[in-house]
Amino acid sequence: MRPRTSKPVTLGILGLLFVLLGTFLGYYWPILFRRILTQELVLSPTSKSYNAWKNSSAIPITMEFYFFNWTNPNELKIPGKKPILVEVGPYSFVEKREKVNITFNPENSTVSYLQRRFWYFDEKNSKGSLKDNITQLNVVTVSAVHKVRYSSYIMRSSLSYLLSQSPEIHVVRTVDELLFTGYKDVLIDLGKLAGMTDETPPFDRFGWFYTRNGSTDFDGYQNMATGEDDVRNIGLFKFWNHKDTTKYYKSPCNAVEGSAGEFWPPFRTEEDITIFSADLCRPVTYEYERTVYHQGIEGYKYSVGKKTLSNDTKRRYPHEQAKYFEPTTTTEDFFTAEHSGEVIESVEDPDVVNIGQCYCNGECSPMGLINITACRYGAPGFVSLPHFHKADPILRDQVVGVNPDDEKHNFYIVLEPTTGIPIDVAARFQINILLQPSNFVSTFNDVPKIYFPIFWFNLKSGTTDDLAYSLRQMLMLRSIGLYISVAIIILGLLLLLSIPTLYMVKRKREISRIKGKRALASDKKMENIYLDKSNVNDDAHTRADCQLYPKL
Ligand SMILES: *[C@@H]1O[C@H](CO)[C@@H](O)[C@H](O)[C@H]1NC(C)=O
Ligand SMILES: *[C@@H]1O[C@H](CO)[C@@H](O)[C@H](O)[C@H]1NC(C)=O
Ligand SMILES: *[C@@H]1O[C@H](CO)[C@@H](O)[C@H](O)[C@H]1NC(C)=O
Ligand SMILES: *[C@@H]1O[C@H](CO)[C@@H](O)[C@H](O)[C@H]1NC(C)=O
Ligand SMILES: *[C@@H]1O[C@H](CO)[C@@H](O)[C@H](O)[C@H]1NC(C)=O
Repeated sequence: MRPRTSKPVTLGILGLLFVLLGTFLGYYWPILFRRILTQELVLSPTSKSYNAWKNSSAIPITMEFYFFNWTNPNELKIPGKKPILVEVGPYSFVEKREKVNITFNPENSTVSYLQRRFWYFDEKNSKGSLKDNITQLNVVTVSAVHKVRYSSYIMRSSLSYLLSQSPEIHVVRTVDELLFTGYKDVLIDLGKLAGMTDETPPFDRFGWFYTRNGSTDFDGYQNMATGEDDVRNIGLFKFWNHKDTTKYYKSPCNAVEGSAGEFWPPFRTEEDITIFSADLCRPVTYEYERTVYHQGIEGYKYSVGKKTLSNDTKRRYPHEQAKYFEPTTTTEDFFTAEHSGEVIESVEDPDVVNIGQCYCNGECSPMGLINITACRYGAPGFVSLPHFHKADPILRDQVVGVNPDDEKHNFYIVLEPTTGIPIDVAARFQINILLQPSNFVSTFNDVPKIYFPIFWFNLKSGTTDDLAYSLRQMLMLRSIGLYISVAIIILGLLLLLSIPTLYMVKRKREISRIKGKRALASDKKMENIYLDKSNVNDDAHTRADCQLYPKL
């Protein structure tokens, strides 16, 4: 074998191999990465995420409550005076979540469970104590008055009488009573006694979180996709209390859809995301806002906006999705029904529905309010962003003391786009009660109509430092694979490029040697010159590879 020719061939083969290997790796690494990632993400009793999902103790979740202290309740009926509200708080709690009665259903790739939430007061991070007195709108009275409108004459007169006896529109209660321990009110017992409606709340006291601590009754029986069949379904709510529709809204607003909020499919786009909220009994849409960085990780920030808060959001509901509609309505019935008819005429696409309308559930409210009356036993509850952020300004004008600030009052979720892992979540909602005049109850004859802010909460969670570290490493793994393949390709190309260079170098040397020899020969007056090629081998290469021999 002649080394002089085999060297470029070897280099060429090696170079080609490297280029091929690099291309192969560059092409298959993302696919391989996807496959590994997908397997890691799917929820199963043995998956990495299972324990953290089952018991959230390792991930800090904080719940901060801010109350609006109503400082001038006596001026409510004075024309030109607005309620003055002073925000107090935060009253901070650590939230722990536990899933119980977990059943995996491999046959349809779902898991069914109940959720239990615990709250522990965190005095250190609070401003104030649970014993603080706060003046608020009397929610029990206002709710009763609201209900009286729709009850029978006898009911109405007896309630009117009772309400005229205890005419307070405001109450003074401690934070603890307002939230967890609740307080007694004669109207609660009365309402129970009278069996006012079938919607009477099953409680003997009133408190926003009364009986909720440690209870499994509030979030409902949930059936969620594990992503085993298709990772694009991971985390999706399938059934809520054994149904894929709710009884609170007309279709298609009654659909149980969206994510349970804890798992998201990987490889995010800037498309809207949807969470089903058991507290609101409806899905909530988050719109992509921008790309942000959290703990050195890139994330897509999605916020609650117009699509959820406005009263005329249009949405496309393909006819095939008819399964979401009430069993009594056919698809065609639905699309020709009165509540969507107007939209059908104005929009070319017959599948487009004004879902703002079906969420109004009757009378619409200004932009920024979500009517949860139906979902809260008929109490006139309205949810908004804190301080009426992103809401119709007329709502802010009704009271003194609300100042929206996107930094503090936005409701957002940040997902790491490759893995779909939530890295920063701030769920913030304000609870408002609609106060309005009533002819039936004298105390309420001349009150103004106000969506009255009561309190707001900020539920915060995100990645711990440990989790952020492993997430960064995992994301780096993807890039490292690509860098390596690029490096291999470059190496291969360099090897291939070196072949012509080698030839050129060799040729140059030969030429210069020939020239050199000619010069030498003429110097020494030699007649013939030849290059002894056979002499060039491993043993001899230390010597000059071209020797000049005078012709003997
Ligand atoms: C709420 O306002 C009342 C006076 O209107 C005051 O006495 C009370 O201390 C306030 N509560 C808090 C927690 O600041
Ligand atoms: C999956 O199967 C379980 C058990 O049979 C059932 O309870 C659940 O509703 C099913 N979920 C879906 C989405 O079909
Ligand atoms: C909630 O329940 C837990 C455990 O029973 C208890 O330790 C905690 O103090 C309760 N939280 C509140 C706010 O009552
Ligand atoms: C809110 O919902 C209730 C019942 O679902 C409905 O009666 C009412 O008209 C709606 N709107 C307002 C502004 O109260
Ligand atoms: C819907 O919201 C807009 C903006 O807040 C408001 O002007 C309008 O009156 C609302 N529609 C109804 C029917 O209340």
